[in-house]
Amino acid sequence: MVDVKRGTLVDDPVVTIVDGVIESVATGQAPQVEGAEYIDLAGKTILPGLIDMHVHLTSDSDMHGYRRLAISDERATITGVVNAQTTLMAGFTTVRNVGAGSFGDVALRDAINEGDIPGPRMFVSGPPIGITGGHCSDNNLLPPEYEAVGENVADGPWAARAAVRKNRKFGVDVIKTCSTGGVLSKGTKVGAPQYTVEELTALTEEAHSHGLKVASHAHGSEGIVNALKAGVDTIEHASFIDDEGIRLAKANGAYLSMDVYVTEFILGEGEAAGILPESLDKERIVGQTQRDNFRKAHEAGVKMVLGTDAGVYPHGDNARQLSRMVQFGMTSAEALRAATANAADALGQTGNVGIIAPQASADIIAVSGNPLADISLLEGVEFVMKSGEVYKSE
Ligand code: ARG
Repeated sequence: MVDVKRGTLVDDPVVTIVDGVIESVATGQAPQVEGAEYIDLAGKTILPGLIDMHVHLTSDSDMHGYRRLAISDERATITGVVNAQTTLMAGFTTVRNVGAGSFGDVALRDAINEGDIPGPRMFVSGPPIGITGGHCSDNNLLPPEYEAVGENVADGPWAARAAVRKNRKFGVDVIKTCSTGGVLSKGTKVGAPQYTVEELTALTEEAHSHGLKVASHAHGSEGIVNALKAGVDTIEHASFIDDEGIRLAKANGAYLSMDVYVTEFILGEGEAAGILPESLDKERIVGQTQRDNFRKAHEAGVKMVLGTDAGVYPHGDNARQLSRMVQFGMTSAEALRAATANAADALGQTGNVGIIAPQASADIIAVSGNPLADISLLEGVEFVMKSGEVYKSE
């Protein structure tokens, strides 16, 4: 067993599970308990189920740019049913879904929780909240006569608060906003801030007053700083984070969720997947800087979680990012913590997920070999248990 907190291996672990929850973790011989079911994973290494803090289950990787206009919210939700299963089978027993139309992610989460379909435990944002013409929520693909407006466009502090209230009303667990432009949206600039600090503060205050955390997409340094000044909980992408951003993130205890794998897909297969030429140009500016800043922020001691942006690239390939996090400066143990215990902390789920310990949900995966020596072993998860139920056993 990998002890993710310590970054060490434990020999001969015995995990006792009652009603989907871990009751005890010991070593040596399994106790003889009348009526108990025994699962022997001898020869394998067990770890807590992985957590991806940035996915879009209702999006597929071959549907970018103008292709996306042809997909109804209902169709996207059905896509999400397929991707939820794929993600779980890859060893991700918990995900944070940060952006889905029409609350399709709320529907998916509920269907999974009610046992209708297999999938990871989901924490969902519903439609992201953003500015007119911005990355997040608005639709900039069509000319003005179509009068297309994204689902949760909210300009001004009170409109931002109202959007948070609406999302909460319809069942979200987290608020997603965008404090800079993005790569994959038409006509936005990755360096350009979106929202004023006043707007971001109103949105964050409102979210926090309902116990909801805030995830802010931000590439440019100014928008990163604005979001951190407003008190958001996680920065997504964080590509151009500067010293001020690093200082604020540390001071606030904010987490960075830097998707350092996805650039390989966008620049490699993005064009065939329909990604707009302007987005490919933007990715050429973002990719390497983000990797360099991942190393810098990690060395500076900023807290990090695994967030992949799966959905931009194929679901199920989430674990590929782990080896890149090691390539760009983490130890295997640090990368594993980012994908387990640290992610649980960032979700407000400390001790419930991301750890094999008493009281935690019985979310356990297994691989052959030692992932502390070769993190890429997690790209081939052989056993998946969520809440004590086995979904995969090879
Ligand atoms: N969803 C993000 C955006 O459109 C993807 C950024 C991907 N690029 C990267 N290097 N992380 O901005």
